[in-house]
Amino acid sequence: MKDFSSNYKNILVYYFSGTGNAKFAAEEIALLAEKKGVSAKVIKLVDEKPDLSVTDENTLIGFCYPTHGFNAPPVVLKYIVKFPKGKSDIFLLNTRAGMKLFKFQTPGLGGMALWLPAIILKFKGYKIRGFRPLDMPSNWITIHPGLIKSAVNFIAEKCKITLSKFTNRILLRKRVLSGFFWLPVDIMLFPISIGYYFFGRFALAKTLFASYKCNNCGICIEKCPVNAISMKNRRPYWSFKCESCMQCINNCPKRAIESSIGINAIVWWLVFSLVPHSLIGYLVDQQVISKGFYLQYSRLIFYIIMVVSGFALLFSGYWILHQLLRIKLFNRIITVTSLTHFKFWNRYMYRSKKEVE
Ligand SMILES: Cc1cc2nc3c(=O)[nH]c(=O)nc-3n(C[C@H](O)[C@H](O)[C@H](O)COP(=O)(O)O)c2cc1C
Repeated sequence: MKDFSSNYKNILVYYFSGTGNAKFAAEEIALLAEKKGVSAKVIKLVDEKPDLSVTDENTLIGFCYPTHGFNAPPVVLKYIVKFPKGKSDIFLLNTRAGMKLFKFQTPGLGGMALWLPAIILKFKGYKIRGFRPLDMPSNWITIHPGLIKSAVNFIAEKCKITLSKFTNRILLRKRVLSGFFWLPVDIMLFPISIGYYFFGRFALAKTLFASYKCNNCGICIEKCPVNAISMKNRRPYWSFKCESCMQCINNCPKRAIESSIGINAIVWWLVFSLVPHSLIGYLVDQQVISKGFYLQYSRLIFYIIMVVSGFALLFSGYWILHQLLRIKLFNRIITVTSLTHFKFWNRYMYRSKKEVE
């Protein structure tokens, strides 16, 4: 029999979740804690302010959130930056993209997802008790079809075991720092996480659109955890606030939200290649940039022009697409040529048995 006498009195679990994985982890931890007699509270990050009523050494504070672009989602980072200082023990758990390959489960890649929040919270005075990734079914529907049910169940069962071991250990005030195991890989991913944070995420926000099946019900707007969608010309419009959490595309009852891979490819080619190269050529020809200066700083100039023109292109291009999608024929063509439109392109949402029943 394990001794739970050194247990915490309270546990507060903050979570952010697009498709239910991190929510499931947060609720599972809270449930396990309650079974051990610990008073547990699950708090939806963004919507709810930090609970400051119990923050002493008898309180364990946890954060569960998905990995986005080898980092914690920006909305989570912002919340943690604003989180009040404290001395409690904390745990961090980032859900990653798990896949099933034959009888094996493949792990996702976390990058900075654990490290940045851990560093920020450490500076705020917290003590890190738990620090680990959790490989749940991948939800990145704009790049691959959702996993089939048997694969989801296979991964979820493994997660339940991992969560149970993790919770039991941290409740006994033992450390679980398995996130450290990933440090070498996480360091290698650091440059990509920077690129994603400053540019990639904004580009991804502009790949979603409402197809001709959209009946203007507004569920995507209502459910969006960061209020990034608004109705423009009776059609949902995604702003740069979008976290690409995949809640909308996976939750639309009409399956009317798509991501056009063809359009994405064209936009990415324009943003990363054609436009910056052409602009630089023009600016050097016109001697706005001298040849010598260009030769010395070619890489830097390319990146600056790429980011500036990229944002302008994304913003205006998406607005134009939104207008064109009002034309029925155009909308149909873009919809039926989107891979996400095909039947085999499953949607994904983790719903616990409790929710399904
Ligand atoms: C835009 C986006 C970026 C992602 N980036 C990563 C990543 O860098 N590494 C990873 O392992 N998983 C990545 N994923 C997968 C999710 O982190 C993973 O499926 C997570 O469990 C989803 O949790 P949620 O359902 O709580 O949102 C990404 C998913 C999305 C939608």
